[in-house]
Amino acid sequence: MKLKHLFLGALVCAFGMETVVAEPIMIKFSHVVAVDTPKGKAAEYFKKRAEELTAGKVKVEVYPNSTLYKDKEEVEALQLGAVQMLAPSLAKFGPLGAKEFEIFDLPYIFDTYNDLHKITKGPVGKGLLKKLESKGLLGLAYWDNGFKSFSANKPLLAPADFKGLKMRIQSSKVLEAQMRALGALPQVMAFSEVYQALQTGVVDGTENPISNLYTQKMHEVQKHLTLTNHGYLGYAVIVNKKFWEGLPADVRAQLEQAMEESTNHANQIAKEENDTALEKVRASGKTEVHGLTAEQRAALKKALIPVHQEMSGRIGKELIEAIYKETSDPTKI
Ligand code: LMR
Repeated sequence: MKLKHLFLGALVCAFGMETVVAEPIMIKFSHVVAVDTPKGKAAEYFKKRAEELTAGKVKVEVYPNSTLYKDKEEVEALQLGAVQMLAPSLAKFGPLGAKEFEIFDLPYIFDTYNDLHKITKGPVGKGLLKKLESKGLLGLAYWDNGFKSFSANKPLLAPADFKGLKMRIQSSKVLEAQMRALGALPQVMAFSEVYQALQTGVVDGTENPISNLYTQKMHEVQKHLTLTNHGYLGYAVIVNKKFWEGLPADVRAQLEQAMEESTNHANQIAKEENDTALEKVRASGKTEVHGLTAEQRAALKKALIPVHQEMSGRIGKELIEAIYKETSDPTKI
């Protein structure tokens, strides 16, 4: 053995041969939320499993909290190949030309994670991901976050409480219609700018699952949080199609396995992360947390359900009906 090594060493010296070490394939994964959230944790989990399963052939760099790109920029960066993986919220696909994804933003469209999973794990969800291919993207998976609540500097217990409030939204026409249905003034804004906008009064309130509210410290600049669960917020993990299809087949299969495991992980931790965040918000004492009575919930729902009909031209009546069929009828009040 030793002799063989000596011989090879001599060959390298004699002929100037160098050992060629293959560079790892880099995956830059940019996202806008904190590490300590369902998406932040799932991205770290993907990094770990992707590097393990490919035995170092792939290196994943995760950039959380908008450190690399903000909402709009990150999608452009993916299309240009400056990053390889993103997990934007489903409310952010409209500007990409995939407006059907705004179906997930319809108020009260899903009552439970169980109803949601009938869509994200079934043919309707898969069909939606397929639509991304014409944009040069591949949708690999849906990752859960959770159900949104409203916050502001006053309790939001009835539709009338929203009148005239400037409410920050993501870039979704459905969310715009939702806020208008309540008499509020929707303001589209990048996630990274929300804390400061709330602090300085540029906007009066917002909506998000509690894990996002807590990790961005929004509860410190909002006097009231109302637990409404009026809509869902989750993600699609997307990659540049050309990049993904250009990967060696064995590496791609290992990454697909890492993605499947990370998706299971994300969907297992999402509810608990949001429940824990709510406990922490309560414990902070910085914001007053309100629940809704059954009557208050019904009144809010009554004001918001017409948004389904109003947006059916944009999203597609058939798609909305396909979801109604799979889930418990969301229009029931
Ligand atoms: C938001 O912009 O409010 C959220 O979608 C951010 C995120 O990615 O969860």
